[in-house]
Amino acid sequence: MTDYNGKTAVISGGAEGIGLSIAVALGEQGMNIVLGDIDPAQLALAEETLSKQGVPVLVLEMDVTKPQDWQRVTEQAIERFGKIHMLVNNAGVSGAPGPIEHTKHDDWRWVIDTNLMGVVYGAESVVPLIKQHGEGGWLINVASMAGMMGVPYANAYTATKVAVVGMSESWYAELKKHNIHVSVLCPAFVQTRIHLSHRNRQTQYKDDAPRSERSSGGKNQAQELVENGIPVEIVGKRVVEALNANELYIFTHPSHREITKQRAEAIDAAFARAADSPLLQDIDDQPIFSFE
Ligand SMILES: NC(=O)c1ccc[n+]([C@@H]2O[C@H](COP(=O)([O-])OP(=O)(O)OC[C@H]3O[C@@H](n4cnc5c(N)ncnc54)[C@H](O)[C@@H]3O)[C@@H](O)[C@H]2O)c1
Repeated sequence: MTDYNGKTAVISGGAEGIGLSIAVALGEQGMNIVLGDIDPAQLALAEETLSKQGVPVLVLEMDVTKPQDWQRVTEQAIERFGKIHMLVNNAGVSGAPGPIEHTKHDDWRWVIDTNLMGVVYGAESVVPLIKQHGEGGWLINVASMAGMMGVPYANAYTATKVAVVGMSESWYAELKKHNIHVSVLCPAFVQTRIHLSHRNRQTQYKDDAPRSERSSGGKNQAQELVENGIPVEIVGKRVVEALNANELYIFTHPSHREITKQRAEAIDAAFARAADSPLLQDIDDQPIFSFE
């Protein structure tokens, strides 16, 4: 069994939802928890929840899109707990689902800055600190099943989640020799407030069009899907279970296995057609390089 006891995890977007579920599960394993989040009111509630459970906790208001916030969070985490062993890059937003021509550039920038650059800033701030103390650790990135498939009408969200899966695979190989284990969490729908991501949308990403003009009205589909998702409490426990097994990919919805299977089969069939192409018969001996 992996030894988490007395070690420290920094969790972005940890004030509620999946981040808080992971915090509770890691707290149960004896970890010190640092929660960074853009929402101070929710942070205060999360602090209360964890403190009641006897978990050593530090909550810090931050915006993951700002590298200087990461700098402050890591400094304060180390000041309080001495070392950081784990980063959970969890903060994320749903964006503004819709057809390609309706997705505003502000929507794209908001989603990319939060879901992609937030993960980059987190990793570049924390990974060197884990390398420095030499005890090893974990980097856990929260992607989505959207990272495993192209989701229609969710172009920006899908783009960032595919990127997070790709970066995780890259970092998994890169950080192995430093004894830093990388995992990427890929849930389908989970009962959180992700469909209400606009509640925390920063002013610099707000365009002029009122939100109601862009939604289809009524109870939106995303809300329905999220409400019918799995209970959020399971997710944190599942993450611990998968970390104990040193998993790279962490799945939470076994029914979605078919999606990755079909994708792999479609890619393999396309390769088979390429292999049969008369154009490519003479260039089938290109070496496959490895950066190990
Ligand atoms: N809920 C789902 O169905 C689902 C499915 C797949 C993946 N995910 C992913 O899980 C992660 C967590 O989402 P959730 O479902 O718990 O949603 P949530 O909205 O309940 O929680 C997200 C948290 O991130 C915080 N946050 C948002 N922008 C931030 C910023 N710029 N800086 C710091 N904190 C910020 C919010 O305040 C909130 O506490 C996201 O990356 C999301 O894409 C969610």
